[in-house]
Amino acid sequence: SETLTVEELAAKLNKEASEIIKKLMFLGVMATKNQDLDDDAVELICDEFGVEVEKEIILEDTDFDKYRDQDDKAELVERPAVVTIMGHVDHGKTTLLDAIRHTKVTEGEAGGITQHIGAYQVENDGRKLTFLDTPGHAAFTSMRSRGAQVTDIAVLVVAADDGVMPQTVEAINHAKAAEVPIIVAVNKMDKEGANPDRVMQELTEYELIPEDWGGNTIFVNMAAFKHEGIDSLLEMLQLVSEMEELKANPKANAFGTVIEAELDKGRGPVATLLVQNGTLHVSDSVVVGSTFGRVRTMVNDEGKRVQSAEPSTPVEITGLNDVPQAGDQFLVFSDEKKSRQVGEARQQKHIQETRSETTKVSVDDLFEQI
Ligand code: GTP
Ligand code: MG
Repeated sequence: SETLTVEELAAKLNKEASEIIKKLMFLGVMATKNQDLDDDAVELICDEFGVEVEKEIILEDTDFDKYRDQDDKAELVERPAVVTIMGHVDHGKTTLLDAIRHTKVTEGEAGGITQHIGAYQVENDGRKLTFLDTPGHAAFTSMRSRGAQVTDIAVLVVAADDGVMPQTVEAINHAKAAEVPIIVAVNKMDKEGANPDRVMQELTEYELIPEDWGGNTIFVNMAAFKHEGIDSLLEMLQLVSEMEELKANPKANAFGTVIEAELDKGRGPVATLLVQNGTLHVSDSVVVGSTFGRVRTMVNDEGKRVQSAEPSTPVEITGLNDVPQAGDQFLVFSDEKKSRQVGEARQQKHIQETRSETTKVSVDDLFEQI
């Protein structure tokens, strides 16, 4: 159940922790300021101070769903698809991502690319696609287990000379569980022993059947290493994203997921966020996982300072009080006070969840001595 520490209760009652500790001693309980008090103990102490217990003293409802904007259908506009590259070790995921980036990210801006933020957008025929450069299965699994669904389309990379391997199957299972469409990239076509027919044959076992064989899975043959097949893959990704009719409301308060985060010596907590709905602005009040803050600076995937980020855009932000975890969700509040309240409550909840339950003062302890 929800609890407060002696110190937290003191703060809420505008008292010193020592005064609470004295009351507890008077009631026969030795306590420290970090000790947890259950609801009944809180009520009893409040009573001692002649304070009516309002429900607000107890932790607020901290569920983001309660505070998220209801999407007004009229405001929904198309947004870029978010694509995750998956597949067995060494089948060419990183090479493919690099090839896409190098063919599509403008070279003229090379001076501006000061840092790489682990996620990026490319433009193809005037339409954008967002790629997550954290294709490890672990990241995908951890995000999914936290209820964060960030991927719209999965690209399954299978090396033509190696075929379906254990992690290929794992990737298929992840993508199927997430119910996202799968495009198969048959890679390393340039290699001796490349056998795309065998790959297709093996994948039929997992209901990934090419159109030529009467199925509806898109297969693209490629040699990422030589930048061959990249344009066809991008074309297919556009096609699938159009069919998915991906929409978001850019006018809503921003909501999304942490892709990665770390503590930077100079800048403090730095987080790469994927905006999934709404638009994120510099100086927005934001609650992120079990921390919060105000967006101080925002940098896009080319390392340039930006003032806002629309749906499906990855950005790196500073201004948080603490380092969130990959897979944490974030939400912007238009009311800074509310943001602080929810942020602090989520922080407390997190601290309590991770703290051992051994030293909780219960109302039974209080009455034991009487
Ligand atoms: P992990 O991150 O370890 O899971 O591997 P990965 O899937 O990211 O594979 P990566 O891109 O690192 O490629 C593995 C090796 O395959 C590298 O030596 C690449 O140069 C090579 N490779 C990737 N694509 C191709 C290709 O199209 N043709 C050939 N011949 N080699 C390739
Ligand atoms: Mg790799």
